[in-house]
Amino acid sequence: MSYEKFARYNRFLVEELNELLALAEDIIASPERYAEKCKGKKIATLFFEPSTRTRLSFEAAMIELGGQVLGFESASTSSAAKGESIADTIRVVGNYADIIAMRHPSEGAPYVSAEYTDVPIINAGDGGHSHPTQTLADLLTIHREIGHLNGLTVGLCGDLKFGRTVHSLISAMSRYEGVKFVLISPKELALPAYMIEKMQEQGIEYSVTEDMEECMAELDVLYMTRVQKERFEDASGFGFAEDKFILTAEKLKKAKPEMRVLHPLPRVNEITFNVDKDERAAYFRQTFNGKIMRMALILKLLEERALPDTVRKHERISGRVCTNKKCITRMERDLESYSYKTPSGEYACIYCDAPTEKK
Ligand code: CP
Repeated sequence: MSYEKFARYNRFLVEELNELLALAEDIIASPERYAEKCKGKKIATLFFEPSTRTRLSFEAAMIELGGQVLGFESASTSSAAKGESIADTIRVVGNYADIIAMRHPSEGAPYVSAEYTDVPIINAGDGGHSHPTQTLADLLTIHREIGHLNGLTVGLCGDLKFGRTVHSLISAMSRYEGVKFVLISPKELALPAYMIEKMQEQGIEYSVTEDMEECMAELDVLYMTRVQKERFEDASGFGFAEDKFILTAEKLKKAKPEMRVLHPLPRVNEITFNVDKDERAAYFRQTFNGKIMRMALILKLLEERALPDTVRKHERISGRVCTNKKCITRMERDLESYSYKTPSGEYACIYCDAPTEKK
């Protein structure tokens, strides 16, 4: 399986990411200059899955840009509950809003949506696939806290299997020079094999451990994640509750003074509350940065319609079906399966990037 999987919705070049970071810094420095930039514009936040940060930060971002907000916060309060397809929902909402942020449990749903409207669609998290705007928040946080994004050793701890934020962050950070990853998880929640392949192909340095304390002193960033229990068919029996994957103030004593702890939140028990008062705990500042980066992204998309849309440039191959049970092709009626050929010659789903097989 190709690593195309984690680049698709997050395909900004380093230069484009840096432009967004610079714009975000400018918004922080001079918010008044941006207060009316989106006057008369509306964002629709279509959340088919629960959210606190992502939805509210998109909404706050648009309001702070002078725009307005509409949307729904769960599938049950939308006509999806009556059986409406994503295609129809998007055709309708595209008449009401200038930009759409969508979270959906089916992998590839935002990509399907983008085929039914000219309004920019932002992926606000699709199943266990990716969460690119969280990554934008993460990049800004690392940049503001540490001062740069090159040459960092990044520890990723917890659910590396279903943690979509981890997948998107590795993709983005791999584009910066000299970045190393330390993968800290129980075997059952290890990073998917296709992502390991990608790092190997790209020559990205990484190591794997189950011992957070062993690697603590070498880390510049420790990215903690919660176990995505909602993505498991059977969550019992895994070692995720083990203490060794829980960050405590005691364990943090071994870290460098300038190291930073990030977490996309929500937290369950993987960081104890006594870590919060440590200056190295950056996860609440990270939520502020999420709003700012979403402001920067909205501005870019509305002002320049600058979303890099390499997805549509893929040749579409018919006659194969996606093997991913969580793919949008399994859920959306009359949605034809298409594949693209990966650099290594395999076939992957055009929507969710999972392997496909002959019909
Ligand atoms: N980080 C994140 O996606 O949080 P929410 O699920 O609350 O949006």
